[in-house]
Amino acid sequence: MGVLVLGSANADLVVAVERRPGGGETVLGGDTVVMPGGKGANTAVAAGRLGCDVALVGAVGADQYGSLLRESLASSGVRTDLVRTSERPTGIAYITVTPDGENSIVVAPGANSDVSPSDVDSLDWAGVSVLVCSLEVPLSTVEHALAVAAAHGVRCVLNLSPVAPVSPEALALLDPLIVNEHEALSLADSFAGLLTLGPKSAVVTLGGRGAAVVTADGVVEVPSPAVDPVDTTGAGDAFSGALAHRLSSGDDLVAAARYAARVAATSVTRPGAQPSYPTPDEVLA
Ligand code: RIB
Ligand code: NA
Repeated sequence: MGVLVLGSANADLVVAVERRPGGGETVLGGDTVVMPGGKGANTAVAAGRLGCDVALVGAVGADQYGSLLRESLASSGVRTDLVRTSERPTGIAYITVTPDGENSIVVAPGANSDVSPSDVDSLDWAGVSVLVCSLEVPLSTVEHALAVAAAHGVRCVLNLSPVAPVSPEALALLDPLIVNEHEALSLADSFAGLLTLGPKSAVVTLGGRGAAVVTADGVVEVPSPAVDPVDTTGAGDAFSGALAHRLSSGDDLVAAARYAARVAATSVTRPGAQPSYPTPDEVLA
């Protein structure tokens, strides 16, 4: 298997609203739409749709949302034998989407909180070339996985989302660290300054402007195809899944980021996270 993804699987309960309510306020929205999501499952599905040999390490509940996630993963070509069934309910993300395609999300982690270092200890690393993690599962599990993967010579990628205080030891293993623009500038004075945190490389996702690839050689910007956003939910996960897939196929980081920006742009033209991810022939030029 080329890519191992460690991260969350959530049912996304999505409602379209004209605007978000403030504290103490009620607004009416559209009908609830339930879609498979979660940063880890999204990343794995994005890679799987592109033809990647990929498995998800995670947990879901013994409920209808757990089945929804397993079906979405399997039908996208993602191996699900490392997705454990927990006694807790499947994670749920409560998502509002406004007419500009922007979202805001509250996550109830449920089973994702159960993904533990012992799940990592039982992994077989033979054939794994890239590990990609995100942070809706416990930070201690992610840090452990990065250390074990690195010890097996596996390339480590972390999407720092949602932001958490990752240890310097773990940051030093990353090639690349993936952050969005806002996170990048909260962590460092400049994109190039991200390397002082320790990663071998970094990628800053810039939404509709593409991404910036930061290595010891400097900063290279890769463009995004121009699109009219419908729903940006999970665009960052599409990016990290596509990036990991291309890295495991032998692309260099700039080439992989160039392709990942096209995959992410394609995903924002359609509603939802996983249902919006493209097959190779659908990726925008
Ligand atoms: O990154 C997007 C994802 O964040 C959604 O699918 C939702 O489940 C939350 O985890
Ligand atoms: Na989308």
